[in-house]
Order: sequence, then C-alpha cells, then structure tokens
Amino acid sequence: MRSPTGCPISARAAGFNPFSGAYQQDPGDALDWARRDEPVFYAPELGYWVVTRYEDVKAIFRDNILFSPAIALEKITPAGPEAMAILQRYGFAMQRTMVNEDEPDHMARRRLLLDDFLPENLAKHEPALRALTRQYMDRFIDRGHADLVADIFYEIPLTVALHFLGVPEDGAAELREFAVAHTLNTWGRPTPEEQLKISENVGRFWQTANRILDGMIANPDGEGWMYETVRQHNKHPEIVTESYMRSMMMAILAAAHETTSNATANAFWTLLNNRDAWEELCENPALIPSAVEECLRVAGSIVAWRRIATRATTVGGVDIPEGGKLLIVQASANKDAQHWENADSFDIYRENAVEHLTFGYGAHQCMGKNIGRMEMRIFLEEFTRRLPHMRLVSGQTFRNLPNVSFRGPEKLLVEWDPAQNPERADP
Ligand code: HEM
Repeated sequence: MRSPTGCPISARAAGFNPFSGAYQQDPGDALDWARRDEPVFYAPELGYWVVTRYEDVKAIFRDNILFSPAIALEKITPAGPEAMAILQRYGFAMQRTMVNEDEPDHMARRRLLLDDFLPENLAKHEPALRALTRQYMDRFIDRGHADLVADIFYEIPLTVALHFLGVPEDGAAELREFAVAHTLNTWGRPTPEEQLKISENVGRFWQTANRILDGMIANPDGEGWMYETVRQHNKHPEIVTESYMRSMMMAILAAAHETTSNATANAFWTLLNNRDAWEELCENPALIPSAVEECLRVAGSIVAWRRIATRATTVGGVDIPEGGKLLIVQASANKDAQHWENADSFDIYRENAVEHLTFGYGAHQCMGKNIGRMEMRIFLEEFTRRLPHMRLVSGQTFRNLPNVSFRGPEKLLVEWDPAQNPERADP
C-alpha cells in the first residue's frame, strides 16, 4: 500500500485507527511508536497525514497560510446522501466560524471580537463562578460519593459559557444531546444508521442556535459575547458576516463548555491518580496554576486538530501534496521526549508546562483559554480545600465519546468519608 505521494505505508500506519483502542485511552501514549519511528505518516483509514512530534505540530499551527484551518470543522467521516438530506431539511448551513477562517478575514474578525476574552475583562466572572462551585459542592459534600461529571463538571462550565455568551439558560435545555451529536458528526466515525439520528440532532441544534441568535439580533443591547458579535456585525457586516454569526452561534455553544468540562474532569482524573501531587496541592494551593498547565499537557481535552496544505510542502522530511489533510496530534506533541524532559512523568513543578499545545498556537490560538484556566483553577481550589480526602472509586475505566479530537471521561466516580470533611472540624 502507498501514500498519495507514492511512499510505501508501514503496517502500523495502515493499522492506525483513532476511533477505538489505544488512541481512545491515551492518544499521546498510543502514538509513542510514531514519534520514535515514523513521526509523520499517512493513515489510509482517515485519508490524513498524522503529525506527532512537538516541533512539527507547532510549526504547522504557526503557519496558518501554508496550513489552512479551513477543514477544522469538516466532517471527518463523510455523510451519505440520506444524512445530508436530513441536514438540508433543517436548513443546516454551517460555514466558516473563527477557528476555520482564512486570512485576512480571520484576523480582522478576531481583533474586533477579542475584548471580552482579555484577562482583565474575565476577572469579573470569578466571584460568581466560585459561589456556584461552592453551591454545587454543598449538594453532595455530606453524601460521601459523587460522579463529578454529572454532579458538577458538566453543568458549571455550561452555565459559565451561557452567561459569557449571553444565552438564556432555558434556551439550551437539549444542549448536551446536541453537543454529543456535533462532536460525533464532526470528529467521530458513526455508522450510516447512526449518522441519520446524529443528523437529526445536528439539524435541531442548528435551528435552536439560530432561534437564539434571531432573538439577539431583534434586541441587540444585551450583555455577552454573542450580543457583542451582533453589535459588531451591525457596524462591520463585511467582517463579522451573517454567515459567520450563524455558524459561530452553533459551534461556540458546544466549544465553550465541552472543552472545559472535559479538561476539568481529565485534570481531576490525573491528579487523583497521582495521589502525591494531589496531596501537595492540598498542602500548598499556590501550586494549582502550574498544576493546571501540567494537566493540560498530559491530559488535554482537545487532543488533535486539523489543517490542509495549500501547496505542496514537506513536514518532518515527508512530502505532503497540495490539498493534503493533516491531523496534528497535540496530545502526542505534548509527550514528545525531544521537547520535554521526562516527558512521561506527571510533574506539577515542570517549569515549561505552559508550552503545551492543547490550546493550539499562533494566530488561531484558543481565545477562551483563560476562561478554561480560571474554571479549572477555581474547581481545584475549592475541592482541595473542602474535600482533600476525596479518592477515585477504584476499578473504573476511562470511557470517552469515540472521536479524534475531544477527550474526557463520561463519568468520574469519587468517594470520601463525610465525617472527615475539614469543615466539620473547622466550620
Ligand atoms: C480555538 C482548545 C476553551 C473559544 C481553540 C483551538 C483549540 C482550543 C485547540 C484551535 C486553536 C488553533 O487552531 O490554533 C480549547 C480548550 C479549552 C477551550 C482545550 C478548555 C480547556 C474555550 C472556551 C471558549 C473558547 C471556554 C469560549 C468561551 C475558542 C475560540 C476559538 C478557539 C473562539 C477560535 C480562535 C481563532 O480561531 O482565532 N480552542 N478551548 N475555547 N477556542 Fe478554545
């Protein structure tokens, strides 16, 4: 078997399937062989070139002209005609958002819409976020056990995201089902039968997002990033286009919270599996911000992203044709021994952990990264203080929604002895 540039395909590359098995358990570890022996390889199962080393992944993120993000939200598993007909019936017209827009349009748009994301403008959300975290914890702190995903890590990032965007909470009741459908539709490998149900949900998601946006357009004075988007559209319709607004409304309703819910659950999973590190955080909460970065390095919630080559080029010495599609695996870059000292060890004191590529890099780097970081920090501050004796329920396995990019456990079961809660001794 040969790649589109004529090079022979190794057995491992031919067998690479990111929708199940080792990649679903830990994509960084699953690509250890590739980082060592074949850092850029063609995966016939996907029709993508898979890029696994830190320097190559970063160089691709850095050059968004040669490596266009246009395919970032393309369906990685093409839908059949029946599924496409369903989407059409709902008027589904997802086009460019922010993350998959080319220059110069992208940067003009990003500049107009950046302010709400600046750290000085995010600080105002912190007191409400802390109060909400405490309130959710109060519901289960005397219970002695919880599924942290169901009991807190899904709903709080969702509430924060809706508040940040300006979306009323009752407008998003079906969001979880919609977000799952969007993830599987964009990054998963559903069977043709599954595609039909997914397409129905994606279509309904599109209509719900548009209904919310129509309400904002009719009355654009509200507070929140999507209201600001509508106002910027009214001032600069050629930069913040109507198609952008409609596509972004749906994309951001999923991206603004799933990413953070998953990153938080991954961080707690990692820390509770590294008990010494957890106990150090309980002793010394000043370590929490650097622990957040190390968690994002070893267990990020976006593990791979996509680019398309706009002309023939080489990556890591491998020829990539014009139009070649690239799966750039951040989770693998984040474990590359050529970049990281003791890459496989989890080290909350690691000085350069912040160089991880979980938020991407360069012109498109995640605009919401400081929202994600703030939420993770506050969750860790509250849990290490109020439930330092919490443990993972033993024997549970990490179950992820099968897809190439989004990673987080479906459940996170923990337990503790409520009689030992520090608040009982020192209320
Ligand atoms: C873009 C990850 C949270 C909004 C991205 C990209 C990644 C990412 C990998 C693409 C970067 C690139 O192409 O270089 C994450 C992770 C998060 C997170 C891991 C949580 C831990 C958020 C939140 C928001 C957000 C909370 C908004 C409320 C955006 C936007 C972009 C983006 C608007 C597009 C930026 C651009 O293309 O210029 N994110 N994200 N993200 N993210 Fe996030």
